[in-house]
Amino acid sequence: MRVLCETQPPHHKVQLTPYFALILQMKDSFKKTMPNLDFDGQNTSYATHGLHAYAAKCPPQLVRYGLHYYSKPGETVMDPMAGSGTTLVEAQLMGRNSIGYDIDPLAQLVAQVKSRSIPDETIGTAFDEVIKQTEVDLKIMQRLPSAATYILRRANPPDFPGRDYWFSKDVIIRLSLLSYHIAETDMTRRVRNFLWVAFSSLILAKTSVANARDIVHSRHHHWEHVETPDVIGRYKLRVKQMRKQMLEFTESCQPNVKVKAIARLGDARRIRQADESVDLIFTSPPYVTALDYSRAHFLAVAWMHRAFEITLPEYKERGMVYIGTERGVPPGEFMINDLLCDFTIAKLTLERLAQHYPKQAKLTQRYFLDMHRTFTQMHRVLRTDRHAILVVCPSHIRKVIVPTQSVYVEMCNSLGFRLKQQCTRTISKGKRILPYMQKAFGKRMSTEYVLVFQKL
Ligand SMILES: C[S@@+](CC[C@H](N)C(=O)[O-])C[C@H]1O[C@@H](n2cnc3c(N)ncnc32)[C@H](O)[C@@H]1O
Repeated sequence: MRVLCETQPPHHKVQLTPYFALILQMKDSFKKTMPNLDFDGQNTSYATHGLHAYAAKCPPQLVRYGLHYYSKPGETVMDPMAGSGTTLVEAQLMGRNSIGYDIDPLAQLVAQVKSRSIPDETIGTAFDEVIKQTEVDLKIMQRLPSAATYILRRANPPDFPGRDYWFSKDVIIRLSLLSYHIAETDMTRRVRNFLWVAFSSLILAKTSVANARDIVHSRHHHWEHVETPDVIGRYKLRVKQMRKQMLEFTESCQPNVKVKAIARLGDARRIRQADESVDLIFTSPPYVTALDYSRAHFLAVAWMHRAFEITLPEYKERGMVYIGTERGVPPGEFMINDLLCDFTIAKLTLERLAQHYPKQAKLTQRYFLDMHRTFTQMHRVLRTDRHAILVVCPSHIRKVIVPTQSVYVEMCNSLGFRLKQQCTRTISKGKRILPYMQKAFGKRMSTEYVLVFQKL
């Protein structure tokens, strides 16, 4: 009954509308059929899992559980919304081939670097050269102001709105020199990507050199450093930590098992993957309008134009088509899409939202349709009888419960999956749950659902 009280003014006599009746009914329908998957207090940063911060990362132990029970060594695991590559890293550690897709270029870069071994000596040689060249430039700039203009022009600092608000002048100079030498020094692509991930960590991490707080989340808050951060010192420290993590990853991979991890830039709604070519899907899709990945990453991407070959305006525009984004509200009045009329839970939820929040109804409808297209692709690429594991969080949108997990179940059932196992888990405090989301979404955001579907 508490669900009802939270969502209706207290003076109202409780009337069970079809929507509320459904929410109550669903509370009981998700009975535990799997072991405890909370993994409270366990280390989630082993091997390369802690290489780069990422919002709403999946705990590696959960992926490990899924891979252990639903795939065998040598088989192929796919994550169509791979984020920072937790599925790929675990697959590599457990001797499975893996393919990950993500629409975000930073996610793809991080996933690729985290899931492939790189010999430490090759990183060391390239890194020493980058630091040497950067420090030579800085010395010349201090001693010969006349040369400073040339060196800085050659480094070509990016010019984007708000640059001088988010970064101090000294930081801009040092980031420009570092990024120039990462791009220009002779090294393999793998090593260069590794150094780019370390560079991105200078901006998108708790220890960011940007004048920003909450940098990993989608809304940054301006926060001026008391002392100018030591960009080069932080970079050296970050690379040192990352090299240790990479060594641990390499040593933990099974030496005699040859498997491949591939991270591709791609859209889960139209995956370029052969039919029936995958043995297991493990994925944690984005939430409905809760996290805007392209807004969260824009400061790093602005600095990494040499790595991504994408301009900031292009990147921001691409962000409008990410699944779950709040941007690019569909035009016109809200109307239930014909396809969704067949899905009772989706339809009732949208009608409920539309009563007071038509904009949110339109965004949620777009999310449901996007996920339907994603499930269609997942069904196509998965071999018959094999499994798709989805980790999903329900949302509260302006106090309306959006039972995303139940919408997934009705959609997947209609596409030729059957729900085989289900379980709720509590998200560890300070892990996937993000502070501003807790405020907006309430306690329920700390519970997520693990759904195991089998392709019929
Ligand atoms: C919750 S995160 C996944 C986190 C991941 N499991 C991890 O541990 O890092 C969801 C991801 O979906 C991606 N995404 C959003 N729209 C997408 C689309 N159309 N195709 C592929 N990926 C998409 C986002 O960029 C984000 O990285």
